[in-house]
Order: sequence, then C-alpha cells, then structure tokens
Amino acid sequence: MALRSVLTGVGSYLPERVVTNAELAKRVDTSDEWIVERTGIRERHIAADDQRTSDLACEASVKALQAAGRDAKDIDLVIVATATPDLTFPATAARVQAELGVTQGAAFDLQAVCSGFVFALATADNFLVRGQAKAALVIGAETFSRIVDWEDRGTCVLFGDGAGAVVIEAREDAGDRGVISTFLRTDGRMHDLLYVDGGPSQTQSVGKLKMVGNAVFRQAVEHISGAMLEACARANVALDEVDWFVPHQANQRILDGVSRKLGIDVDKVVSTVALHGNTSAASVPLALDVATRDGRIKKGDLVLMEALGGGLTWGAALVRV
Ligand code: ACO
Repeated sequence: MALRSVLTGVGSYLPERVVTNAELAKRVDTSDEWIVERTGIRERHIAADDQRTSDLACEASVKALQAAGRDAKDIDLVIVATATPDLTFPATAARVQAELGVTQGAAFDLQAVCSGFVFALATADNFLVRGQAKAALVIGAETFSRIVDWEDRGTCVLFGDGAGAVVIEAREDAGDRGVISTFLRTDGRMHDLLYVDGGPSQTQSVGKLKMVGNAVFRQAVEHISGAMLEACARANVALDEVDWFVPHQANQRILDGVSRKLGIDVDKVVSTVALHGNTSAASVPLALDVATRDGRIKKGDLVLMEALGGGLTWGAALVRV
C-alpha cells in the first residue's frame, strides 16, 4: 500500500502581550477605524523582548505533539518555516529540535515568507511518502515585530507574532485521510513588491520590511484563487466538496475577495486576522489550530490551506485531516 502523510496533531502559541489598534494609533498617524475598515485587524500579539522565534515554535510544537499523542522521540524530521530566524545560522529548526529533545533525522528552516507553512507541508509530504522520514513536525513561527518598521503606518499595523505546528506521519493504513495534493509557485520577478532591506550578504544587517501594499493585494487575490483551483484540480476535487478553507491571514479584504471570486461560502473560511494580524508563516497553522480546537474542523474533513507571500511565493495544500 502506498504511504500517505496524515496530519495527526496541531498546536499553536501566541505571545502574551496584546497590542490593540488604539495603542498603535499613539505611535503612528492611524486609527482603529482605518485599520479595521482596510484590513479587518483589531489586535495582534507581540513577543516579549527575550522571546525568540524558536521559543514560540517550541511552545506550539509541544501542543501539537500532545494533540497527536506523540513524544519528541517519535519525530525524525523538523521543518521550521520562518522569515525571522533566531540567527543568520544555524537554522532555527536545529535549536527547536534540541529544545524539544528530538534526537534523530534532519532539521532545517524553509524560507518562503508568508507561504512558508504551505511550502514546508508540501516538503514534509514528499519526505514522508518517499519513506525518508516517519513523523515530521512542520512549524510556522515568526517574530515579524523585529523586522517591521514601527514608524511606517502602511506596514506596522498589519503584522503580529506567533507560531503554529502540525505533526504529520507516514501511514499505509490512512484510508482517504492525508495530504491529497499540493501546489507551489514562486515568481522572483515580483521580488521588490515585498522584501526586507537587509541581510547578511547585501547589507550585513537585519533590515526592515518594505511593501507595495496595493500591488501585493492585487497579486494575492489572483494567485491565491489560482492556487486553490490548481490544488483541487490535481486531486480531481470540486471546490464545493471542500469543508474548510484555511487561508493565510493577511487581510480580511483579501479573504473576502478570494471568496467572492470563487463563489465560496464565507462561513467555510476560517478567519483569525482580527485577533492575530498577519503572522506570516505562522498564520495558517494558527488558524488551523483555532478551528480544530473550537470543534469546527473535525477528523475526516477536507481542508484547503492557501497562502501568498514575499518572493512572490504562493501555494495551496488540500488535506483530509
Ligand atoms: N492608517 C491610516 N492611513 C494609512 C495607513 C494607516 N495605517 N496606511 C496607509 N495609509 C494611507 C496611505 O498613506 C494612503 O494615503 P494617501 O491616499 O494620502 O496617499 C491611503 O491610506 C491609501 O493607501 P493604500 O496603500 O492605497 O491603501 P489600501 O487600501 O491598499 O490598504 C493595505 C493598504 C492594508 C496595506 C493593503 O494594500 C493590503 O493589505 N495589502 C496586502 C498586504 C499583504 O497582504 N501583505 C502581506 C503579504 S504576505 C507576506 O509575505 C508578508
């Protein structure tokens, strides 16, 4: 029987500190009204000064392992999707592996910005179905508060910190559960629409986030819709067979635009953007965890995850959970 990658547990973590729109309006020329109307965001969580991306990743991973009924020693692959690593090297995943007590297999970071979790899930799926690993922790973890320009009202209101993680395991007896199809795409010609203006080889600094917001917005609606249709087509699944849509949480208007374009019932779209903001690679597993723990997403449901981020990168993953 063919191996399939089955999602057996999900967990997430948000730092304690909550920053409201009203608080941001004291720092930059903005208002709660503008932010809510243009983005749907009301508040976001911000990591404490001594919290690293790996700390957030470990908190989420412990919960995912508990949900899966697994121990760190069962894991033989750790992938951390992040654009905000602890250090330039080694990989944040190496620290996460050690902190959790995972002592076998490989651990590495994956950089696809906000699409990172979908890219990491597709990567782990390939390892598992080829028999190169048995059980993977796939994590999206970010501290975007560290790379946001807190003087730039066009970007600082959008982002938050957090982490989400899933355990996925190679199974021969999965039935119809598991990762069914994935679709990934990068178009480097749109590099300058969304980037950080620092890095080891170019500036020897960390840099700050730069974005052409309205251009990214237009690309997002078009490419996210396309990726969702492509992932479904690859699996011969109609969009209306999907039980839950779990999108990257960039902006409520992007979520609504995609739903309108594809004729999706908004009640099937999981939205956490109001309370989390855009947590980049963490947003999809965070939303998946929220909707799993509140009982909306149940075992056996068909879930479509999708994202677009810097690169530009975009993709989708269709999973029967
Ligand atoms: N408060 C008040 N006014 C603001 C703010 C703010 N926080 N930010 C921008 N404005 C002003 C602008 O200065 C501009 O003023 P002007 O007309 O006097 O020049 C006006 O609002 C309109 O600006 P736009 O950028 O055209 O506003 P838009 O409706 O496009 O909304 C936003 C901006 C929210 C950034 C939107 O474009 C967006 O969400 N884009 C997508 C961003 C995104 O998803 N990024 C993440 C991708 S994933 C990743 O990889 C990180």
